Amino acid sequence: MCGIVGYVGKEQVAPILLDGLARLEYRGYDSAGIACMENGTIRVNKAKGRLQVLSDMIDGGNAVASTLGIGHTRWATHGKPSDENSHPHMSQNGKFAIVHNGIIENYSEIKASLMADGVTFASETDSEVICNLLEKFYEGDLLKAVKKTVDTLEGSYALGIICHEYEDRFIAVRHASPLIVGLSEKGNFVASDIPAILSYTRKIYHLGEGEIVELTGDKVRVFNSDLEPVIKQAEEITWDVKSAEKDGYDYFMEKEIMEQPRALHDTISPRIDDNGEIVLDGVHLTREDIEGYRRIYITACGSAYHVGMVGKYIIEKMTRIPVEVDLASEFRYRDPIVDDKTLMIIISQSGETADTLAALREGKQRGARILSIVNVVGSSIANESDDVLYTWAGPEIAVATTKAYSTQLSMMYLIALYMADKLGLMEKEEIRTLLASLMQVPELVEQVIETTRPQIMELAKQYHQVEHAYYLGRNVDYAVAMEASLKLKEVSYVHSEAYAAGELKHGTISLIEEGTLVVALAGCHRVIEKTVSNIQEVKARGAKVIVVTTEDNTGVEKVSDHVIYLPKVKELFLPSVEVVPMQMLGFYLAKERGCDVDKPRNLAKSVTVE
Ligand code: AGP
Repeated sequence: MCGIVGYVGKEQVAPILLDGLARLEYRGYDSAGIACMENGTIRVNKAKGRLQVLSDMIDGGNAVASTLGIGHTRWATHGKPSDENSHPHMSQNGKFAIVHNGIIENYSEIKASLMADGVTFASETDSEVICNLLEKFYEGDLLKAVKKTVDTLEGSYALGIICHEYEDRFIAVRHASPLIVGLSEKGNFVASDIPAILSYTRKIYHLGEGEIVELTGDKVRVFNSDLEPVIKQAEEITWDVKSAEKDGYDYFMEKEIMEQPRALHDTISPRIDDNGEIVLDGVHLTREDIEGYRRIYITACGSAYHVGMVGKYIIEKMTRIPVEVDLASEFRYRDPIVDDKTLMIIISQSGETADTLAALREGKQRGARILSIVNVVGSSIANESDDVLYTWAGPEIAVATTKAYSTQLSMMYLIALYMADKLGLMEKEEIRTLLASLMQVPELVEQVIETTRPQIMELAKQYHQVEHAYYLGRNVDYAVAMEASLKLKEVSYVHSEAYAAGELKHGTISLIEEGTLVVALAGCHRVIEKTVSNIQEVKARGAKVIVVTTEDNTGVEKVSDHVIYLPKVKELFLPSVEVVPMQMLGFYLAKERGCDVDKPRNLAKSVTVE
């Protein structure tokens, strides 16, 4: 997820682009750049690092004399943060400059065919194929070249395009990636999001899927994907700039919870090809490799560790290879039994967590193969791993992880199915069926947000004064209960603990008294009776019980005070649906308590110290 902005009009463009990019930095901040039409040529300035690096390079924009330009702030997906990989990208002969937000899924085929035509590439990005396709297809008609180019692309793209033969206009395209048009007396804009242009205009067009727009200083023409003109209705925006960055939500955590369907789609769909085969981009594990592993270690911290707990259940079930899940801060000092017959799976949103990085190095030094699941391209953990799988959740701003956790979960499913497939432990048809269900998970998450949110907001009102809460579960329910409990305590400061339900009677049940809040996760059908009897044990001691279960399991109503029903889902993918109401409970309860939910006390988004 990157941020793009463009402008053509009467004003000097560079300061406008810098200001717009500054308001889009929450979308990506590892490198930035602008391309402006200056004296009949395209001038590009770009640099790795925060926007300030670029701004210093062009003296806050004063060093550029131009009234037409496009800009980009990057969240790396293909190619780590560097000057070469930052946008804008120029075509081989300098005819075109482009900025791109999204992922071109068929870029490697296109790149290979362009290289066969003699085109050389300056970066590792998927985006650079776009400007070279434009140059290949351009025969004097800019719109035609754009149409031919986008007809060749697969994936998601919001584009800003400058052509050196047009000093008064630029083109933008929207496909499966957000883009708006801003209209004003002083000129016209495009942007990935409203905050970028709100201080210049409140009059906007939302672009539809596949629409192409041509902008000059005093005219905007919109076309559909067949280049037929489209009449657009302008809208008036009433938000203030600050709330706009949160898309109208009060907190980034709430916004990121709601972004999960998109983040899951972006992370899962490129890993399942048209033949229903799993394609794990950065992973090169052969059947022999996998058969050679005597043990799999999953090592991480905090919520990432909780993903590992779910991973253990799923990978052991699918591959029959023993899986150990370890807290990185413990792993690095306990002389673990790790050797070249060990596969280590490292999980980290930031890719910079000190304990996790040290555990990686410890394992590597002992001969383990390192496969990492990371959300930040080019981060230390990614750089030091043998294989990297990126979760494409986009930048996660709120300290409490939500969408990154969910995309990491989906990686656990994909790795387990990938290995089972390689080992021939499952019929191809069975794998295809499960992958088809996995492709449904983003929609199911959308559904569970819609159906449970009102109830969760009510429960948060009802229980926001509790001082203690206990989460129970068996099997994967227990692993999800661990994450649910962390979500509550880290943002609301309510003392909260999660327990394997069967453990309760071995001590903790002594804490249960009249009115104690207990949240029981009962989605795992094969242990449902056992979980229900544990619920009865706490109910008998006066607990207030919220049960989370699937819609086909109404029997729990008689043993609980509230039931949160989840849509029916294949049990393998239950954690992805079950965790979302729990994230919302943590968020809304903290909001009811007036906590600063995005920046909870004593916590940091990335713990880079031991
Ligand atoms: C989770 O909400 C917390 N932010 C924290 O537990 C986090 O999961 C942990 O610090 C690990 O961070 P990482 O995924 O960036 O390595």
